[in-house]
Amino acid sequence: MVQKERALVITGNWKMYKTFDEAEAFINGLLPNVKDYKTKICLALPYTLIMPITHNFNDIPILFGAQNMNDASEGAFTGEIAARMLKDAGAQFVLLGHSERRHLYNEDDAFINRKVKRAVKDGISPILCIGETKEEHEANRAQEVITRQIKEGLAGIEVEQLHSLGIAYEPVWAVGTGKSATPQMAQDIHHFCRNLLAEMFTPEFAEKVIIQYGGSVTPSNAEELLIQKDVDGLLLGGASLSLDSFTQIINHAESILNRKVESI
Ligand code: PGA
Repeated sequence: MVQKERALVITGNWKMYKTFDEAEAFINGLLPNVKDYKTKICLALPYTLIMPITHNFNDIPILFGAQNMNDASEGAFTGEIAARMLKDAGAQFVLLGHSERRHLYNEDDAFINRKVKRAVKDGISPILCIGETKEEHEANRAQEVITRQIKEGLAGIEVEQLHSLGIAYEPVWAVGTGKSATPQMAQDIHHFCRNLLAEMFTPEFAEKVIIQYGGSVTPSNAEELLIQKDVDGLLLGGASLSLDSFTQIINHAESILNRKVESI
């Protein structure tokens, strides 16, 4: 049994789904099940839900965040949103460089790097999403791509500024396809990322960083992924939209943490 040294985090990424009523019903349904859980539960909400949800549900064991933001502090950028606004609305973290942002909206590493810098400057925790495409995966280029995404995404940032950084490894070929990475593949890449962070910053920092896996996680494959040593959590798209599958996955995380306590 692998003992978890870091927290276990389950993050739902709701993408462009759910109205306020749907979100409220979901959270009301979730709360009684996760009372007193040690698993850290996070929800990346659509922008319009952040303020009403954080106002209606304060002091609950769920952290709320956003799915994207602009790199500027403010300005004439129609349709964009700033870190300060997200914080003001109650968001505590933000996903940056999600594969849908990189590939559908052409966000490059330099832009994502500016967003990470803005997030740390304006006090919102960045979760840097990385992952190789199917072509890159088939050409055995995953490590090369991930190295570039991490090096460029975190360029020019001091380790002291990165205490709230999270990483999400989401192979593009696994996101929304029903084809997850195997637990061993996820472990190997997460371990690789941690070594890279140790080289770029310090081993102590790398040991602490939460690295979540995302891409076609379901209640059936969640546990095998979560017991990998360097898999500290899961970033869920589809499985976070249904209360039933989200709760089942959180229960898997919680039972892994409880097993750890029992075996001490
Ligand atoms: P999926 O999405 O779980 O539906 O594959 C993951 C994500 O986009 O974060």
